[in-house]
Amino acid sequence: MRSVLSLSLLLMLSLGGYAAAQSPYHAASVAPFVPSKAAVVDQMLDLGKVGPGDYHIDLGSGNGRLVIAAAQRGALAHGVEINGPLVEQSRAAAREAGVADQTVFLHQDIFETDFSQATVVTIYLMPEGNARLRPLLLERLRPGSRVVSNTFGMREWEPDEHITGQAGSGLFLWVIPAQVAGRWEFEVDERSWELQLRQHFQQLTPALQRDGKTLRADRTLLRGRNLQLITTVDGVRHAFHGEAQGDQIEGFVQISSEGEERVERWRAHRVAR
Ligand SMILES: C[S@@+](CC[C@H](N)C(=O)[O-])C[C@H]1O[C@@H](n2cnc3c(N)ncnc32)[C@H](O)[C@@H]1O
Repeated sequence: MRSVLSLSLLLMLSLGGYAAAQSPYHAASVAPFVPSKAAVVDQMLDLGKVGPGDYHIDLGSGNGRLVIAAAQRGALAHGVEINGPLVEQSRAAAREAGVADQTVFLHQDIFETDFSQATVVTIYLMPEGNARLRPLLLERLRPGSRVVSNTFGMREWEPDEHITGQAGSGLFLWVIPAQVAGRWEFEVDERSWELQLRQHFQQLTPALQRDGKTLRADRTLLRGRNLQLITTVDGVRHAFHGEAQGDQIEGFVQISSEGEERVERWRAHRVAR
């Protein structure tokens, strides 16, 4: 199948080669300056659900347009940019837009900066930049934080959402998953359950038992800290919903059969990692 590349992608790839070959000033650069289009800025912030209460960080913030737009949505917003003149330009643009108090622009290398406080991170970097950043995002951001990338993915870390762009590239959203791998135990209606979870990023492979009998999980979903598990045992559907915090999951289970439904508290604890 013929692959379709957007103009901006082609521009990035060609400028990337140029920058690597020509500019010692950008020795640490993992992307040339190509601003996201105005409409794409809005789409990225929509995808990351950026709003009041968020701390948004654009890693490689260019002329500051994502940071300024996030501040205009009520977020505290912070840009990190290796190119000094672009940092100056961003600060001037933030003053002009009336959001200087909600924005900070740091002249730093994204691989040397602390972004752990972000609730939403945006990036528009080359594929190798995303690949280098991936372990740092997973290690430093809190579960539930969102990462939105313009154009490039994160290789085997599948996105939670992907919007295909007009010219075949698109936008990607990841939600940082809680680490839930291991063996969990809990009781429902005085019966013992065991849940063994294998984890690959946000993808879970469950092995479920009740009183030693193996059950089939109809659905298992992890989004940030929120875990959902659905199984039907002896005609009774159990839908578990909980929030993982360390070695505890707290939530509720909906138990339904033949049109009757009740809701019980669900509390699981991890007995082995
Ligand atoms: C494609 S532009 C994106 C700009 C902005 N995020 C946007 O979407 O409009 C990538 C930016 O990342 C910056 N950059 C590349 N490598 C960097 C690094 N190691 N540390 C900080 N900034 C970097 C470049 O200077 C450039 O301004």
